[in-house]
Amino acid sequence: MLRVLHFSDVHVDFPLRAMPWRQMLNKRLLGGANLALRRRQHFIEARTKLAQLADFAAAQEVDLVLGTGDYTTLGTEPELRAAREAIAPLTRRPLGLFTVPGNHDVYMPDAVADRRVERVFGPLLTGQNGLAGTEPGVWPAVRLFGDSLAVIAVNSARPNPQPWRSSGRIPEAQIRELGRLLGEPELQRRNLFLITHYAPRRSDGSPDRYSHGLENADELLAACAPAPRLAILHGHIHDRFRLSPPSAPAHLFCAGSTTCEGREGFWLFDVEAERVRATAGGYRDGDYRLEEATAFEF
Ligand SMILES: [Fe+2]
Repeated sequence: MLRVLHFSDVHVDFPLRAMPWRQMLNKRLLGGANLALRRRQHFIEARTKLAQLADFAAAQEVDLVLGTGDYTTLGTEPELRAAREAIAPLTRRPLGLFTVPGNHDVYMPDAVADRRVERVFGPLLTGQNGLAGTEPGVWPAVRLFGDSLAVIAVNSARPNPQPWRSSGRIPEAQIRELGRLLGEPELQRRNLFLITHYAPRRSDGSPDRYSHGLENADELLAACAPAPRLAILHGHIHDRFRLSPPSAPAHLFCAGSTTCEGREGFWLFDVEAERVRATAGGYRDGDYRLEEATAFEF
């Protein structure tokens, strides 16, 4: 059995005085940046909570940690470095940590141009086993774990030119490559977890709104449809939830935000050859805890 922890949207707090404002002076995104910064108060405990989450993962004997992005607020290099340091204890689980960026990690176009996510997160983004995405920033990236699990990382995050938008899109080439990968015998006989930042659906099963959602969610879901044992793990919406067929086209697990004050969420998966057991978790009385009543098998 493999035990997998899924966390998301930790938005590691970073001191405003250390933010490289000069780099950002010419950015028209500054208005939107102010909005994003105002939410920081909900994440002041993020570093402490990440340390607690690593202790929780050790106590639960978690083998593998999966992250679905939004480690920062504005995606500056000092923030990314601070976040990388804060998640370091989680990367030390036996099978490591595998992740995708979120829209806040590529908040400004220069984050894409200077490849800072790839430089700072490097091996946490790459696939293994010669299947796909063996260079940081090449998506999808695939990792195989034991005989029972393959994780496919798809990047749906991009900078948004208008500050009032925080929508995502998976490039067509990634969707095509995903379709090809799902036909690979090595993947077909395993449980598949697809990790991406954006939510293909909201908690009530409806598509997310134009300014916030995944533009081509239906194309992603259509590409995943032929895979019988696939779950999409994501974040972006700061509420933990699960949707499963028939109320959604696939098993969707949203970790919400694992560090947002009062709304902390995560998922824990026990993966066996032909069975996955998912249990949701939250943060109560100063610590991360499983909520056994939420357990669900597929
Ligand atoms: Fe996000």
